[in-house]
Amino acid sequence: MAIITNIEDLRVLHQKRTPKMFYDYADSGSWTEFTYRANESDFQKIKLRQRVAVDMTNRTTKTTMVGQEVAMPVALAPTGLTGMQHADGEILAARAAEKFGVPFCLSTMSICSIEDVAERTTKPFWFQLYVMKDRDFIEHLIERAKAAKCSALVLTLDLQILGQRHKDLKNGLSAPPKLTIANMINMMTKPRWCMGMAMTPRRTFRNIVGHATGVGNMSSLSS
Ligand SMILES: Cc1cc2nc3c(=O)[nH]c(=O)nc-3n(C[C@H](O)[C@H](O)[C@H](O)COP(=O)(O)O)c2cc1C
Repeated sequence: MAIITNIEDLRVLHQKRTPKMFYDYADSGSWTEFTYRANESDFQKIKLRQRVAVDMTNRTTKTTMVGQEVAMPVALAPTGLTGMQHADGEILAARAAEKFGVPFCLSTMSICSIEDVAERTTKPFWFQLYVMKDRDFIEHLIERAKAAKCSALVLTLDLQILGQRHKDLKNGLSAPPKLTIANMINMMTKPRWCMGMAMTPRRTFRNIVGHATGVGNMSSLSS
């Protein structure tokens, strides 16, 4: 697609370039996806009314968020597995946010670690925390975020249990993806994605694997 003019163009491009399990992870909800669809249709009801003949002098979208000057009052929300949507996705998103002047929030369930992002950005970013049962690990995670000079801790409260996400179950979502025949056939149609992944060492949950006691791979993480 040569000219991208809207979010729908980006969605189509992303679907074309990204393995099905990761595209579906970003573009789906739990159970019947009723709420997921309602989130979109509710927004479609909102219309903006143009006001004319008003004083525009010194109008700006600049403001502050959590004590930080920002170009507009918008932040990049934490999204798990961003580094599986595109190689080094979290590093690239953090850099883009930095360039534009809005905060970037790194997910606990990111592929690139707190340290990976900190080493490749110049300004502090936010860190989102899922509080897990292993409290020593959680304390260590907070210490790592502090050491990386994260400027805000964003606490997620709505994940007492994992949502049952049917597409993720059917696709066997994992990072890195399991090399099943179906996955390999699908990945063969995504050469850019494969090249990117081949060039980066960041292909699993690097905030967690190797840091939480007993978590050395994906199956020990989920248990
Ligand atoms: C693909 C995807 C992954 C997400 N991962 C996380 C996450 O790891 N941690 C978290 O706290 N919220 C996560 N969220 C929730 C978002 O941060 C955000 O709160 C939510 O999408 C609502 O914002 P929106 O209306 O702009 O999408 C995720 C959302 C999506 C769509």
